[in-house]
Amino acid sequence: MTQQARARLVLGNWKMHGSLAENELLLAALRAADTNSSSQIGVCVPFPYLAQAAQALQGSAVSWGAQDVSAHEKGAYTGEVSAAMLKDFACRWVLAGHSERRAYHGETDQTVADKARAALQSGLTPVVCVGETLNEHEAGQTLAVIRRQLTPVLALGADAVARMVLAYEPIWAIGSGRSATPEQAQDVHAAIRAELAALGTPQVQVLYGGSVKAANAASLFAMADIDGALVGGAALVAEEFLRIAAA
Ligand code: PGA
Repeated sequence: MTQQARARLVLGNWKMHGSLAENELLLAALRAADTNSSSQIGVCVPFPYLAQAAQALQGSAVSWGAQDVSAHEKGAYTGEVSAAMLKDFACRWVLAGHSERRAYHGETDQTVADKARAALQSGLTPVVCVGETLNEHEAGQTLAVIRRQLTPVLALGADAVARMVLAYEPIWAIGSGRSATPEQAQDVHAAIRAELAALGTPQVQVLYGGSVKAANAASLFAMADIDGALVGGAALVAEEFLRIAAA
């Protein structure tokens, strides 16, 4: 399947940034500019701001979502947020297995797959993140790590995977200002695409994340298997984020 058959998607990951006052300006700017973009755009905001995002973006072309979800449906899981709760706020997206969740919250490959499944069960689109550390990268283990991370996710089956988005985020490129080169990213995306094709789901969007800026977005998006971006720092500045989406 050609890249043209897959829509371009640019998602912002606000991480733990924002305030009611700051968000109001950012969301208003995104809403105002959404019709000019050639990409589908969404923002993944902190849980407390979902209602604000829903209100500000409702009826616009910009969709919204969260950065994490519980693998459990409901119950005695203090501090967790279920997929059904996210659905209550009309979320479209939820990140699953961002490297910061894997690193700081002990999320295993299986946990990430369980979260993706919970998201799908509530009608959300999980954005499953994979990526290698700098050590793994330098040891030439990138593809082995990505395949290991994807194994329990792909085991959910073609019907499930067809309703996901994947994101390749090399950990050494996140927040570092040092993006993977388009060719480096494309190599990994092509390997992910081959796994998807083997499952019968080659049309799944695969985003790149890690120091994406307006200055490097176009060269990344020119790659055959890069279908968009998951943007951290640059998603906090409306003009920069919109320039990425328009790249
Ligand atoms: P960055 O973060 O764009 O700030 O590198 C990307 C991410 O962690 O999703």
